[in-house]
This record gives sequence, C-alpha cells and structure tokens, in this order.
Amino acid sequence: MAFNASELTGKMNVKFAESSRVRWTKESEFEQRLMRFIYTDTLHLTPTQNELRKVSSEQPLRVLISDAAVIQLIQMLAKNMQAKHILEIGVYTGYGALSLASILPDEGQLVACDVDPGMPEVGEPFWEKAGVLNKIDLHIQPAKEFLNELTKTKAGCFDVVHLDADKSLLDDYYEASLVLLRKGGLLAVDGILCVGRVLYDDCDDEETRAAKALIRRIMADERVDCSLIPMGDGIILAFKK
Ligand SMILES: C[S@@+](CC[C@H](N)C(=O)[O-])C[C@H]1O[C@@H](n2cnc3c(N)ncnc32)[C@H](O)[C@@H]1O
Repeated sequence: MAFNASELTGKMNVKFAESSRVRWTKESEFEQRLMRFIYTDTLHLTPTQNELRKVSSEQPLRVLISDAAVIQLIQMLAKNMQAKHILEIGVYTGYGALSLASILPDEGQLVACDVDPGMPEVGEPFWEKAGVLNKIDLHIQPAKEFLNELTKTKAGCFDVVHLDADKSLLDDYYEASLVLLRKGGLLAVDGILCVGRVLYDDCDDEETRAAKALIRRIMADERVDCSLIPMGDGIILAFKK
C-alpha cells in the first residue's frame, strides 16, 4: 500500500501532526510504522517549539518548515560539540533558529540569513518567549551575497552551519560554509533529497541537478567526513577535517 502523507497526517495524533514534515512516498507498512513511531515517540519538543510548529503549519508555505527529528539531531550534535557560534542559512518561520539558539550558552550566538523578511517575523515572538531573541542575529539578504561578506570577516569562526535555503546555488553555499566552519565543525545540508526528486533519474530541474551534483561532490571530498541520513527530506552531515 502506498504511503499517502496527507492522509496519514490527517489520522495522526496532534503531536505527530505538529512535529512532522513527512514528504516521501513510503511503500512498506514497516516504513509507515517507523515514521509514525519516530514522530510520536522519540521527539522531545518544548511547548514553545510545538506552538511555533503549529503556527507555521497555518502558513501558506507550511511545507518549508524544517523536519522536527532532523532539527533535534542537529541540536543534539551542536550541544554535545559545545557549540557557541551557529550559522543558519534559510530561516523560514524560525523553528530551526529557535531550536538551535536554545542549546547555546549565554555568550553564544546564532547568525541567520533569509531573503524573505515576512516569515522570520512569524517566529520572532516565539524566539522572545523562549528567551533566545538576543542570541539570534538575523540578516535579510540573499544567501550568496551574505555568505560572501561573512567569509571576509568570520572565516573559521562557526562550530555548526545549517544550510537550508534554495538549492540552485548549493555549491557556492557549500564552499562558503567550509571557509566559515572551524576545524572539526559540523555542516548540516538539509533537504538534500529535494522532496525525493534526487532519487529519480528523470528529475532534471535546476535544484535537483545541483543537489545531485553536491551529493556526489561531498561524498568524494577529502576535506570532510560525511554521511547522508535519510531523515526528513534527507540531510548530509559533514564534519570539516
Ligand atoms: C526550507 S526553508 C527553511 C526552513 C527553516 N530552516 C526552518 O527551521 O523551518 C527555506 C528558506 O530559505 C529561504 N531562501 C530561499 N532562497 C534563499 C536565498 N537565495 N537566500 C536566502 N534565503 C533563501 C526561503 O525564504 C525559506 O524561508
């Protein structure tokens, strides 16, 4: 039986519906059960995270929100790396920013960039409510331009980079991220499967081509230790050597 994400979402309990962004066509019952289990039984979201997911799910572009299990994984890695400086490219309503800023120490900072001012505005009251507003330095600018500027002053300064914007310039974003990360820093390239399009040979749009090219490139790149994790819409985790 084919997995129908919207049908499943309709049947899921509130916690699952509010914390998941299931997009793939899953073919086996096992996979359906696995996804349901992960999103109902393994997430530990705060009330503010849940509230922001709920508000985000009412936005017209709701599918853009980062997957809750993926963000939980990056949060855990960043926390255990004792990250103080995190960069997020692609903010949307600020769920990732809220979650990642919340693991930072008092002196830590999350630098964030999005081209659209409207969506981060939705998240800001939740950043305030969670007490992380003062840790988030938001820039409204196209990512390429922003990253070019940042590499001139902050090379080697970031512990973690969460890349989650458009895919067509991924290669440029990847190179800039490697400059910005410290040795041993973590790069998380989110949504790398392009809603599963990367898995199909006949999907040949610009974003999918860029994602396929970047996957091949990172996997062969001796500057990083990396793996592709099939969570959410796929995430590459790469540690800078
Ligand atoms: C998948 S969403 C990000 C989700 C977000 N990380 C979260 O925690 O929910 C992608 C975001 O990238 C932004 N974006 C798209 N193209 C961009 C660009 N060229 N520069 C900066 N941001 C861009 C979009 O406005 C959108 O908010």
